[in-house]
Amino acid sequence: MSDASTVSNPSWRIEPVGPLHGDVTVRGSKNAVTKHMVAAVMGRTPSKLSNCPEIGDIQITAEMLRSLGCHVEVEADTVTVEPADVVSGRVPLSYGGLNRIPILLVGPVLHRMGEVFVPLVGGDRIGTRPVDFHVSSLEAMGAEVHMGPDGLEAKALRLHGANIRLPFPSVGATETVLLTAVLAEGRTVLENSAIEPEVIELALFLQRMGARIELRPDRRFVIEGVERLQGAEHRLDGDRIEAFSYLVAGLVTGGRVRVHGCPQGRLVTAISTLQRMGARFEITDDWLAVSAQSLRPAVVQTDAHPGFMTDWQPPLVVLFSQCAGMSVVHETVYEDRFPYVAALKEMGAEVELFDACLGGQDCRFNESTAMHSAVVHGRTSLRGAEITVPDIRGGFGYVIAAAAAEGPSLLHHVHHLERGYHRPLEAFAGLGLHISREGPPPPS
Ligand code: EPU
Repeated sequence: MSDASTVSNPSWRIEPVGPLHGDVTVRGSKNAVTKHMVAAVMGRTPSKLSNCPEIGDIQITAEMLRSLGCHVEVEADTVTVEPADVVSGRVPLSYGGLNRIPILLVGPVLHRMGEVFVPLVGGDRIGTRPVDFHVSSLEAMGAEVHMGPDGLEAKALRLHGANIRLPFPSVGATETVLLTAVLAEGRTVLENSAIEPEVIELALFLQRMGARIELRPDRRFVIEGVERLQGAEHRLDGDRIEAFSYLVAGLVTGGRVRVHGCPQGRLVTAISTLQRMGARFEITDDWLAVSAQSLRPAVVQTDAHPGFMTDWQPPLVVLFSQCAGMSVVHETVYEDRFPYVAALKEMGAEVELFDACLGGQDCRFNESTAMHSAVVHGRTSLRGAEITVPDIRGGFGYVIAAAAAEGPSLLHHVHHLERGYHRPLEAFAGLGLHISREGPPPPS
């Protein structure tokens, strides 16, 4: 399965060793830190973020902000953004396709410069990932937006508040509205907002910068635009995707992993789902640990928060492959989040994909041909394999599968994983897994 393009990309070699046991400490989440960096562009004074993970996405975002004229320092677990000298409204084309951050810069840069160009957004290959909700929200707030072949251009002398209802509680579009409405003239009411913990964390950071934001019942944000924002400091909350993934790595291999640094409240649906399957949790203010004698199959539907997170789905599918019986996953957030399953099947997992909505209510992909439900038959013996990683979360699923397999595995294109997990090799090595890296140096 390897190809010529893997040569310049790093690979991980994994030798399974049996049950994984030990401790992992997670840092602030990938999906919060970069958005806080974007918010900091609007402050009159510097902002400082701590408990930041060491991930490629921070370096990419730091370079993007530097290209606008911000001074960004990344040192140990702290990121400082000094936005005084923003001189450009153009994010260079070379930052297109790397992550989802450019589209979030549109509002903040419009406030600073009156015009902006961002290259087409990137992120993982898990569906079409359109930006229509972002664009229509920006237009509702007075931006003139033009989508060109390379990216998005927008102009606005003064943005204003608006009444906006999102067709789906999109995390990114909610963030675009928050990041734009805070300095717009007047009131913005956003209905059907995302209320993921990372979104609330961003709203609280903006509030700390001087924004006036209210979170009302029924997914409604009400934002009163202010004249100016100042910088703020924040210690990021622990990454719930990493926390869940390591907990499941313990369960899949028949071991016990204890995760520090992620508050229980961020994992509430993950905990209740695994408990339903028969897992036993120990929970303190500082850590969570999980183990199981045997696990039952389950039916799980991914959903917007507080539902079961779509990013927890690949580790869960690997876990299902190790539970006796038939389990079902209905993916309702992304229409195309199962391509990673093909390689799991090569490793021996029995997974069938369906375009029907299985095991729950019909979702918005009901009438489409999107293969968005999976039936997993366990328990199956997994075999080590040579795999090219297609996306970050599917990639982590392979690491867990490789840890539970018979024989070694070689994973190519692990830059996807290094973009979003804090020191994963050290974390897995600390759990006893034999894992080594080949290729260019990881992000520091
Ligand atoms: N959508 C649209 N139009 C839009 C925006 C979104 O149709 O303009 C659709 C998407 O296609 C998708 C759904 O709405 O079907 C939800 O997408 P959302 O906007 O919520 O996702 P996102 O903001 O692009 C963030 C995380 C994802 C995470 C989702 C859902 C970041 C950088 N990414 O993406 O994380 O899965 O929210 O919680 O915050 C990951 O970390 O691996 C990852 C993919």
